[in-house]
Amino acid sequence: QPVAVTLRAAAQFPFGAALNPNLLTSNNAYRQVAQQEYSSITAENYLKMENVHPAQDRYDWTGSDVLVAFAEQNKQRMHGHTLVWHQAVPAWVTNFKGDSLAWEALFKTHIQTVIAHYKDRLASFDVVNEAFGDDGTLRPSVWLTHLGPDYVARAFQYAREASPGVKLFYNEYGHEYSPKRLAATVALAADFKKRGIPIDGLGLQMHTNIGQSDAAIQNAIQQVAATGLLVHISELDVRVNQAKQANYVLTDADKLAQRQKFAAIVRAYKTLVPKAQQHGITTWNIGDGDSWIPNFCSCQDFPLPFDKQYARKPAYDGILDGLTK
Ligand code: G3I
Repeated sequence: QPVAVTLRAAAQFPFGAALNPNLLTSNNAYRQVAQQEYSSITAENYLKMENVHPAQDRYDWTGSDVLVAFAEQNKQRMHGHTLVWHQAVPAWVTNFKGDSLAWEALFKTHIQTVIAHYKDRLASFDVVNEAFGDDGTLRPSVWLTHLGPDYVARAFQYAREASPGVKLFYNEYGHEYSPKRLAATVALAADFKKRGIPIDGLGLQMHTNIGQSDAAIQNAIQQVAATGLLVHISELDVRVNQAKQANYVLTDADKLAQRQKFAAIVRAYKTLVPKAQQHGITTWNIGDGDSWIPNFCSCQDFPLPFDKQYARKPAYDGILDGLTK
């Protein structure tokens, strides 16, 4: 049944979630929340290379087709994720044998095929994801090894060439706790500007926790906004189990701290990013049962605004607090 207040209605900018098409087709509660609450959708996994391009001569659009159709039905913006990453690289690429020209062709073909497939049905796309390590230099990856350090810039050029109407993003994590990563992202924007490399926006993933200081979050948002590019808080979640315990009981203090942290992040975004640069905020899936975190940390956590049954948590109210007060 319809609800009186939703995130998409309360927000002055696109408010989104990363979605899993398998849940969308199998779980009614998930689908209903996805429809009602969000004005933007990101493909959590199904536009990653290993899923969408499982063999050199084969692309699989099954998962992404579900998401794109859903977004269109519900008048939601669709954001693509991600053309180039050091993870989710399929085995055929890891095992690929070829000279630098063959690697370049593989790289360019992948980028251009995927970004051109849906044309402007996708508003924006994370072209390169997480290219930097903690020290702010390019991290080891199959792309760096075979294509050299300027692969990041070439990815954006190839993407723009194939799909000029899609907004191109560089997406990265850790800006709020790693000054070197933050500096690297800001420097990338300045370097692209100087060299005329096409880029439209920066994604701050914001996988964070209740212990992260608001000041550091504000500083990251402000510095990224100062580039003049669009700013997307692209993968928001807020962990509460800081000691990463396997069995963890959520306390009332956690619920309140999580509410306040969501509110502080949304408020910082709303006030520190100029309107014209607000690409929006996206949470990394919907409910606590859908989050990537328990798998990743082998621990229990409750990082999202909805619980496992898709009931609104205090964290949800925190987002509304940030949007409205
Ligand atoms: O679907 C299969 C299932 O059939 C199989 O039984 C199971 C066994 O491992 O794996 C399932 O696939 C997993 C998939 O998540 C769906 O849950 C993959 O192994 C697992 O690697 C994949 O993890 C994703 C991860 O990226 C790696 O691609 C997470 O869902 C996703 O949330 C996470 O997202 C990343 C962003 O792309 C970039 N920023 C960080 C963020 C968190 O790591």
